[in-house]
Amino acid sequence: MTRTLTILGLESSCDDTAAAVVRHRPGNRTEILSSVVFDQTSLHMDFGGVVPEIAARAHVEKLDYCVEAALAQSGIQLVDLDAIAVTAGPGLIGGVLAGVMCAKGLSAGSGVPMIGVNHLAGHALTPRMTDGVDFPYLMLLVSGGHCQFLIVRGAEDYTRLGGTIDDAPGEAFDKSARLLGLEQPGGPAIEQAALAGNPERFRFPRPMLERPDCNLSFSGLKTALRRARDDLTTAQGGLHGNDIADLAAGFQAAVTDVLVGKSKRAIKAFLAQEAPNTPVLAVAGGVAANHGIRTALTGLCRETGLGFIAPPLQYCTDNAAMIAWAGLELFRAGRADDFSLSARPRWPLDRKSQPMLGSGKKGAKA
Ligand code: KG4
Ligand code: ZN
Repeated sequence: MTRTLTILGLESSCDDTAAAVVRHRPGNRTEILSSVVFDQTSLHMDFGGVVPEIAARAHVEKLDYCVEAALAQSGIQLVDLDAIAVTAGPGLIGGVLAGVMCAKGLSAGSGVPMIGVNHLAGHALTPRMTDGVDFPYLMLLVSGGHCQFLIVRGAEDYTRLGGTIDDAPGEAFDKSARLLGLEQPGGPAIEQAALAGNPERFRFPRPMLERPDCNLSFSGLKTALRRARDDLTTAQGGLHGNDIADLAAGFQAAVTDVLVGKSKRAIKAFLAQEAPNTPVLAVAGGVAANHGIRTALTGLCRETGLGFIAPPLQYCTDNAAMIAWAGLELFRAGRADDFSLSARPRWPLDRKSQPMLGSGKKGAKA
């Protein structure tokens, strides 16, 4: 199928309600005609994490608005779409259900085919939408809910090399920021605080770095930070500004070392299995916004001869353009779903891999 395809994407698996329209003609650059995101952060602010019931209600309220806005901004009528792609999992089940029901309604009313998309596939395929990367490539997915290394061979062909056994790195940033009295989301707050800090003052552990596999762990790091904070508080009656900066810098340095160390192993495993002409490591997820982590990964790729791709931030974090794109790849391959499409809380990309142990604030890591 080489014709131009125009796809509406819907995303509601966590705390962002999103709709987008994406158009692609083979051989041309992909056009993201619109990408609307309603961020729920303020709704969950008082609760220290995403509250599934609040998230689901907000998705139900906002989905129609996001779809209308995405269609209006793109200048496309519903009936002119080739397909509607919707996140059908993994994620918080109430939110996923809201999206799937919305897609079914739109599809039933317009006759436009519908495709259920794996949210992780949306992230994993983003570098193809933004940078036209060819299969196969290595993907590091690092967000508040996900952390895994994947070999991406096709829109439905993934091998998971490893992932977190407990917290996702964004989750660790968020929890650690809370321990330091910094605002949410914690990643940007810690990055900002760390700018003035000394990363050497607190030598936090680099969990699992000595192990030869590609699995990671972040929960012990957060515990070490809490201990250091409590020791300081006991010794001096509180934290000074420079203590917070040093703790943030030490924490960020440890996360960076773990991600770089494990990326090195993942690159080795990737190159042992695949021989692409131009090997690439791509990142996605909110943590990929961290300048220190980006710089360290860029350096690693230079050292190991890989290209490094970090899509623009608005397509690294949760959005519906990535879902539209993943749906577009599947639709081109002849896939479509009927009204029996169901919402799935867990949905591993690599069907052969064992489920990981961790399941954090943003749902199963799959
Ligand atoms: O991909 P995302 O928007 O949502 C999902 O988790 O699916 O990622 C959000 C996560 C949050 O945990 C946030 O603290 C983290 O990404 N994050 C960062 C930075 N910006 C966002 N972590 C570290 N450094 C940053 N600059
Ligand atoms: Zn995500």
